[in-house]
Amino acid sequence: MTHNYTTSQFGNPVASDDQSLTVGPDGATVLHDRYLVEKNAQFNRERIPERVVHAKGGGAFGTLTITEDLSKYTRAAVFQPGTTTEMLARFSSVAGEQGSPDTWRDVRGFSLKFYTSEGNLDIVGNNTPVFFIRDGIKFPDFIRSQKRLPASGLRDADMQWDFWTLSPESAHQVTYLMGDRGLPTSWRHMHGFSSHTYQWINAAGETSWVKYHFRTVQGEANMTGAEGAMIAGQDADYYRRDLYEAIERGDHPKWDVFVQIMSNDEAKTYRFNPFDLTKILSHADFPLIKLGVYELNKNPENFFAQIEQAAFSPANTVPGTGISPDKMLMARVFAYPDAQRYRVGANYAEIPVNAPHAAPVNSYTQDGAGRHGFKPASAPVYAPNSLGGPVADAAAAGEGHWESDGELMHVAYTLRSDDDDFGQAGTLYRKVFTDEGRARFVETLTGQANSITRPEVLERFFWYWGSVDTDLGATLRAAVGK
Ligand code: HEM
Repeated sequence: MTHNYTTSQFGNPVASDDQSLTVGPDGATVLHDRYLVEKNAQFNRERIPERVVHAKGGGAFGTLTITEDLSKYTRAAVFQPGTTTEMLARFSSVAGEQGSPDTWRDVRGFSLKFYTSEGNLDIVGNNTPVFFIRDGIKFPDFIRSQKRLPASGLRDADMQWDFWTLSPESAHQVTYLMGDRGLPTSWRHMHGFSSHTYQWINAAGETSWVKYHFRTVQGEANMTGAEGAMIAGQDADYYRRDLYEAIERGDHPKWDVFVQIMSNDEAKTYRFNPFDLTKILSHADFPLIKLGVYELNKNPENFFAQIEQAAFSPANTVPGTGISPDKMLMARVFAYPDAQRYRVGANYAEIPVNAPHAAPVNSYTQDGAGRHGFKPASAPVYAPNSLGGPVADAAAAGEGHWESDGELMHVAYTLRSDDDDFGQAGTLYRKVFTDEGRARFVETLTGQANSITRPEVLERFFWYWGSVDTDLGATLRAAVGK
């Protein structure tokens, strides 16, 4: 029977929405007013920890459609021609906290979850094709340098530039960040990248390497530092609002999906290490190949349940896709599920936004806080068993593979002929940025230099940018008057 009176969480009618149970109108409040206690106790537990990075974001649901035939490279059901798949996208900034303004300069997260017939495939990328570091062991240090000082709780240019200039592999990504792409016009107007190289596996078990590119159909557009600063003061949720309102009015944003594909042989001899996340694969060497398109067409009905609790992970691959020997990617495969067990709870995978929509779950994991799904009493809880329970099948999983052998060691990647920390950053600055873009970049960097207080860090700042481009180093030194 439906009724419309307030109840406790257990369906019992409650006596009052707004008066506690007290001893007379002016006396003590009694502890057995269970609804007063329930309301406040639940309220005290409404927040979960924000994401340790990418805390501020927003997202929407949509549909991926595969328009081209790349089946000779991957057997993944989701990527077969004509296939449509439900999906979720979440965009974010990296360093700011939950309430931070969307238009602070930052790299933007670009997370995609595809609810495929072979389980969920997540591609958790950014709006830039590279990253600041190339080994996951540096990630916590990198992030702490971008967040807040322990004593004052303030962000600090000295700390940021100290880390970056002592980690010259960051130069390529910092060039993107300080360039126009550090301030997109909206989430709808930015490209997305897997950034990492992933593996594809075809029906015959043959492997190749791919990078995903998501090209905005809205056209790439960015705002200036002054516009970003003004909007940050007026509307901290500018990007979140833009996406939500666009979808509400039926203006569904779209991205074309492309891949760069590299064979195993090409990967062995390519002039850049194809698994080094600080490098791009040149488009001249590996052109973009169209795969399909996706559109975002449905807003969340509940932000907390569907966006805040959403858990993306590069560990979620489907048959026909796999990871690669990228040291960052391997660290991420551990980090995300670990973070989500803490942030959302041990059974975060059962939450509807995280559970597969089009594939069964036949996992032997059991119990834990908040578990509500269970199998029939006759289902075995261990493997192997002789009771007809699910059995792993390496052929069905179609997992990828790569050759690797050697002693255990803590050393950097072997350098390829063109591998260095500054070359691709210099190309981005000189050949990809427009004249106006370069001018804005110098202006942004000049502002950054002026906020550095430690002379040693400032000196390294000039060295860093002078290594990207000799003239740039001199220009910045002159602009700062040092
Ligand atoms: C080894 C390096 C990295 C580590 C250890 C790491 C770790 C994390 C962690 C723990 C989270 C929070 C997850 C959650 O609570 O749900 C996160 C979020 C995120 N990271 Fe990373 N990360 C790394 C590198 C990267 C890279 C290279 C990219 C992009 C190419 C990236 C993109 C993202 C995005 C987009 C999110 C937000 C996911 C969402 O929308 O919920 N991260 N990262």
